[in-house]
Amino acid sequence: MAVSGKGGVGKTLVAGALAWSFARKGIRTIAIDADSSPNLGLTLGLSPGQVESIIPLSEREDLIESRTRTDYPGVYRLHFTVDDLIEAHALSTPSGPFLLVMGTVRAPGAGCACPAHAVVRNLLRSLVVERNEAVVVDMEAGVEHLGRGTAERVDAMLVVTDANLKSLQAAGRILDLARAAGIPRVMLVGNRVQGADQEESIRAFGRQRGIPVAALIPFDPAVPAAEIGGRTPLADPGSPAVSAIAGLGEALLARTVPGSVGM
Ligand SMILES: Nc1ncnc2c1ncn2[C@@H]1O[C@H](COP(=O)(O)OP(=O)(O)OP(=O)(O)O)[C@@H](O)[C@H]1O
Ligand SMILES: [Mg+2]
Repeated sequence: MAVSGKGGVGKTLVAGALAWSFARKGIRTIAIDADSSPNLGLTLGLSPGQVESIIPLSEREDLIESRTRTDYPGVYRLHFTVDDLIEAHALSTPSGPFLLVMGTVRAPGAGCACPAHAVVRNLLRSLVVERNEAVVVDMEAGVEHLGRGTAERVDAMLVVTDANLKSLQAAGRILDLARAAGIPRVMLVGNRVQGADQEESIRAFGRQRGIPVAALIPFDPAVPAAEIGGRTPLADPGSPAVSAIAGLGEALLARTVPGSVGM
């Protein structure tokens, strides 16, 4: 599952709570933080100190160099195994999923460090295409980390939005990118929804763009309250937002979520 959306719409909450909901069912789950300022670990229950001490894999130059180096200057290896990286760098978290902080790199042509890009692509390919864990990726708006073969194997791309017009516009751009990248099932997740008008704005946008609304997550003051207090919102069993995301997780597993026909 790939989780995307405009900055601040609730991607990390959705990705974290989904990963938690899968792990809680006994499914081995890897949550990947592909954000440039990674904080998924906090949602999964790690302490701020633990989260700060993690160096994203895309910034581990030693490791990138050792995987991609060839005997020819300027030429780097594109294909290599990454299973040992996953075993060595996935951290267990108090809420159940393993966490892999991948970080982000810009796409080739946008001034990226290409060897780092090769490592990130191989990691995602291995996790999505070759391995058996449930994988939830908290990602920024772009989908450029996904090579075509990986994009086609993503079970669901959840584009998170609130009812704000700017968030919906950004969601529209991401939907176009996701379709162009070849991701077969793209769905909207409305978040921080307050009242029938907001619900209807999100549903209307979904109808207009021909994109199913997989879930509407209510505004829940317990979520920011937990975060301000330095706690994970997942520890609050009564949170309506967390329960709604867990419900989405169930529907995704049962493949009864709108838009999942043929999943
Ligand atoms: N359903 C909700 N109800 C109330 N507050 C929410 C809800 N979902 C998220 N929030 C709050 O909105 C803010 C942004 O959430 P979150 O960090 O999950 O978004 P994000 O999309 O990952 O942001 P970024 O783009 O910065 O990574 C946080 O303060 C969080 O507490
Ligand atoms: Mg985030």
